[in-house]
Amino acid sequence: IHKVIFDTDPGVDDAMALLFLHHAPEIELVGITTTFGNGTIAQTTFNALYLVERFGMNVPVAQGAGKPLVGEPMDPPDFVHGVNALGDISLPGELTTAADPRPAHRFIIDTVRAAPHEITLVAVGRMTNLALALREDPEIAGLVKQVIIMGGAFGIAGVQGNVTPAAEANIIGDPEAADEICAAAWPITFVGLDVTQKTHMPTDYLSELADLGGESGRFIWDVSRFYEAFHQAGGVPSIYVHDSSAVAYLLRPDLFETRTGAIRVSTTGITRGMTIQKPDTLAFPPGAWDDRPSHRACVSVDAAGLRELYRATI
Ligand code: BDR
Ligand code: CA
Repeated sequence: IHKVIFDTDPGVDDAMALLFLHHAPEIELVGITTTFGNGTIAQTTFNALYLVERFGMNVPVAQGAGKPLVGEPMDPPDFVHGVNALGDISLPGELTTAADPRPAHRFIIDTVRAAPHEITLVAVGRMTNLALALREDPEIAGLVKQVIIMGGAFGIAGVQGNVTPAAEANIIGDPEAADEICAAAWPITFVGLDVTQKTHMPTDYLSELADLGGESGRFIWDVSRFYEAFHQAGGVPSIYVHDSSAVAYLLRPDLFETRTGAIRVSTTGITRGMTIQKPDTLAFPPGAWDDRPSHRACVSVDAAGLRELYRATI
């Protein structure tokens, strides 16, 4: 059993990943922490509470930071996830479920300390909450089982970014936080665009989920209409599988190949938000990657295997 805190900015693909976690028998979801990103922090927290309520998940939701460590948040990408960040499906005006009183980073610290070496952090939004948790209690780095991040890109598939040519959304949304968390000696795996853009969910696949996946399958269909249209308008025939790939890595790491090495995030200039790994197998003169722990970056994925895992789970 994997005990998971899901740090998320729901978000169409975040919602799809949450249902993946919810239905996977090997997962015990112990908390959801929210980040700004696909919507404002108020919107993504509302969406997380809505999903918990709608799907009867008995899981606390703790609201996270509303802005990055430095500066102000970028505008939410309405054109990707819709104005309400859930593909503009209709949402209730009010919810009965309330958020946990603690801020997300405090919730993370308390939960990790209560179950040392048992908690996996699956982070699929900005890295702000993780950075704040580490600043307040650096020892948690040695107490977390593993950290799996959907974010970044390492140029392996010829791609470095989706917001700029250099940067992926979750990283450029708070590059200082992303660089900080890579300095900590907790085991991180980056599931970046190199693999998430290699896995697609075509319309007929999603329609099969709608037919066979009960309430969750029908919801995935509804919530993905806007997101699919965005992909198609950009010349991508079917949706990329971003956040669910991080969940898939937890369940089936054998579906991925990884490379190890220290990771840094650029915080300046035209490369702001770029993730760069120094592979352990290569030697370089002394530099900014030295004295940094080695982390994993996914370099390839069995896309058909991942799709089948998601389908079977839903
Ligand atoms: C990431 O950015 C967000 O829009 C998605 O939810 C995903 O986490 C992809 O770059
Ligand atoms: Ca996300």
